[in-house]
Amino acid sequence: MKALLVAFVAALGCLALAVAAISESMARAEEAAAKIELSELFEECNETFPIPKATINYFFSHGRLQNENDYGSKCYIHCLTDRSGEIDSDGNFDADMIKVMTRRFPNETHIEGLNEMVDGCVAARGESDFCERAYGLVSCLIKEKLARLGHSH
Ligand SMILES: *[C@@H]1O[C@H](CO)[C@@H](O)[C@H](O)[C@H]1NC(C)=O
Ligand SMILES: *[C@@H]1O[C@H](CO)[C@@H](O)[C@H](O)[C@H]1NC(C)=O
Repeated sequence: MKALLVAFVAALGCLALAVAAISESMARAEEAAAKIELSELFEECNETFPIPKATINYFFSHGRLQNENDYGSKCYIHCLTDRSGEIDSDGNFDADMIKVMTRRFPNETHIEGLNEMVDGCVAARGESDFCERAYGLVSCLIKEKLARLGHSH
């Protein structure tokens, strides 16, 4: 019993070291993300930029809108990234926050090379319009994620 306890305490120590090894900004992102209720975010943004469920479902399963001229839906996507803290009011991305949210959504799916994937999608942004910029980012993330999940099977 005592040996078990010692092993348990040792395991906790290892865990603490691992947590400490995560960069401070990543820990901050994890903490901020843990407070976000995704379903509330979806509802809030739907109040400002109403979007049918079918439209958003198509987007999340294809990485693009069925109608790419649907600017309102792009602003809905911007609203999601804005409210979650993935993009700030100057249009700058918070890459750590995007990494955490991309891993979380739609569930804690393991994605090979997630960090590189997010950094690549962030670096590829040339759009200046905020709605187009958020749409471009999330489209890129979904397409990459779908491709990676497809390859892992
Ligand atoms: C947005 O609200 C409308 C009206 O309540 C609803 O029909 C629609 O499904 C909602 N969209 C999403 C993505 O929840
Ligand atoms: C997590 O998401 C993946 C990909 O969308 C899905 O295949 C899987 O069933 C989901 N798992 C859970 C527990 O919801």
